[in-house]
Amino acid sequence: MALTGLFLIAFLVGHLLGNLQLITKTGEEGRRAFNEYAYFMGHNIFIKIMAYTTYISILAHACIGLYLAVQNKKARPKNYAYNKPGTNSSTASRNMAILGTIILVFICTHMANFWYKQKVAETVPLHVLHKEITEQQQNPMTGQVMEQKIGINYVLTTKGDYMPKSYKDPNSGQDVELMDIKDGTHLYDKKAEIQVGEGYRDLHTVVMNFFGQSEQGQPTNEYALWAVILYVVSMFVLMFHLWHGFASAFQSLGLNHRKYNGLIRFLGQAFSIVVPLAFAIIPVMIYLNR
Ligand code: HEM
Repeated sequence: MALTGLFLIAFLVGHLLGNLQLITKTGEEGRRAFNEYAYFMGHNIFIKIMAYTTYISILAHACIGLYLAVQNKKARPKNYAYNKPGTNSSTASRNMAILGTIILVFICTHMANFWYKQKVAETVPLHVLHKEITEQQQNPMTGQVMEQKIGINYVLTTKGDYMPKSYKDPNSGQDVELMDIKDGTHLYDKKAEIQVGEGYRDLHTVVMNFFGQSEQGQPTNEYALWAVILYVVSMFVLMFHLWHGFASAFQSLGLNHRKYNGLIRFLGQAFSIVVPLAFAIIPVMIYLNR
């Protein structure tokens, strides 16, 4: 319990630092930074091992926690005649199994919305940047120089450059594809049929749209407010779960000393408030900045 709990606490810190980029960096620079980070998280071998350790830790932590809760209940099937639980235990400590189950449900819905789309279904679109360029053309009959606007879609590649993917033909108004996309991200030159690069997936836009960022004044997720409320409430639950869990993990591992107990309790309580609060601020900020 304690070991998996402490590992998940470390996961939360890393996950928070990565996700804070969603609100600390803006515009194309922010989108790029987050998508590069998501790509790195999915391709670095060390991070991959850590990710599998996280999944196993979540499952082990939930299973052992529920098992212990059932055992405790069995050991004391009837409430004591004189039961005043508030006198020697906190509300959080008595409801760890319920709090943990709510967090598990949150993690399942959370992973279905982001992780599953990015890693399993691979439905996250490519990171594409639309640009209008003005081209000058000389009329061969009159010699007059004319300007025309061409809309070009550039795809961000893992080499860090933007490659032209398609453009709108100003004469026919039709989209002309310059690349073939294979396996979702592999970019092939349409004429030469050779691979010219790999594109990033646009997980940033998926997250932004999920929490209600609008495109051309149109809200992209009509349930965005409910999504934000779900995240804020879940982070409140996480706060209570960590409040008790942090200190109790140190105690279970025997890492307690009379001299440092006060400090450990203070750090645990500060962590329990700061980390969930920072997580909760992310969807709220995205929603308010629509
Ligand atoms: C505002 C808060 C959060 C945002 C915006 C967010 C965003 C994301 C995104 C975009 C992914 C997919 C990353 C990828 O597949 O590369 C992800 C994965 C994940 N998230 Fe969150 N997350 C938030 C809070 C949380 C919290 C509080 C928890 C745990 C209690 C959590 C647990 C996870 C887990 C376990 C994964 C899978 C990690 C992996 O595959 O390495 N997330 N999150």
